[in-house]
Amino acid sequence: MRVSLEQAIAELKNGGVVAIPTETVYGLAADATNDSALKKVFEIKQRPADHPLIVHIGDMNQVSDWATTFPEVAIKLAEAFWPGPLTLVLPAQPHVSRVVRGDEPTVALRVPNHPVALALLKQGNLSVAAPSANLFTQLSPTTAAHVEAGLGESIPVLDGGPCNVGIESTIVSVSANGQWQLLRPGMISEEEIAKVATTHHQAPSLASAVANQIVPKVPGQHALHYSPRTPLMLFKDRLSLIQESKALQAMGLSFAIMLIGDSDNVELNCQTINLPNSPDKVAELLYSSLHDLDTMKVDRLLVELPPVLPEWLAVLDRLSRAGYR
Ligand code: TXA
Ligand code: MG
Repeated sequence: MRVSLEQAIAELKNGGVVAIPTETVYGLAADATNDSALKKVFEIKQRPADHPLIVHIGDMNQVSDWATTFPEVAIKLAEAFWPGPLTLVLPAQPHVSRVVRGDEPTVALRVPNHPVALALLKQGNLSVAAPSANLFTQLSPTTAAHVEAGLGESIPVLDGGPCNVGIESTIVSVSANGQWQLLRPGMISEEEIAKVATTHHQAPSLASAVANQIVPKVPGQHALHYSPRTPLMLFKDRLSLIQESKALQAMGLSFAIMLIGDSDNVELNCQTINLPNSPDKVAELLYSSLHDLDTMKVDRLLVELPPVLPEWLAVLDRLSRAGYR
């Protein structure tokens, strides 16, 4: 059910749940100070209660309402990247709901860079907790139609058009002494974070972890996340993808493929999505392409992985959670 901005604000103030657009993915929002509203989010998503939620605020001045400290490093990151696809995990004020924190001593905060989301937060004088508006372990939605297909027509949806970043925010935790750590890769890269933060990098580089084919885990994040319903196979090179497609054909199984970059000389006689060789563009179109592939009702999805390079890290991370090799 599509709702207007005014209806969405009224619904949220009334303890209801509304799917809202952000620049990354659609979020399933509830008033972050209302425990019974927050519990509805967990119920609708079928999300385990120990998975904390991101609180979306309208302005970085509101950080002190939620966090006990706003270390210099975190201030620099907020000034550089907010509004935008960066979530900061900071020590939580004691009053912050345990439902939001998932019993962690920290709270995750972000100012989204989407005009409709900012209007909702500012006009409504609201802070909303919002995980991605999909069932737990399913693909994240980047359009209002994806939300309705995943959660049903009865969910109120504020339509703000397709999301232009397309994958979830980069998550960085900053401790009271200013040490920081990347918890989830996103389109703001670890290198960009390090340039602004300049000091106290706590963990080994995530880039080297992915390069070694180790998929790092955010606390409370499952390896198989963001998956389409159709079994999805990932390929590091096009030759092995083509070999597999021939093997599937020989077994009489149907398949669809997603390629990144130039598709000349590829004649596979199946439904194909061809994405351009650009990390920003692939991120923007990734979930909608996987949603589209999923509706083709084939036996297998075959996806070509981008190269293991820093600029592809976030896309590699999401794809590696969606499929198997
Ligand atoms: O781009 C995004 O971040 C989207 C849009 C809607 O803002 N939201 C999103 O929410 O991706 P969700 O719930 O799908 O992912 C939230 C992530 C989880 O992996 C959770 O573990 C982490 O944030 N998180 C939240 N609070 C945390 C905390 N206090 N400490 C560590 N991780 C936290
Ligand atoms: Mg999610």
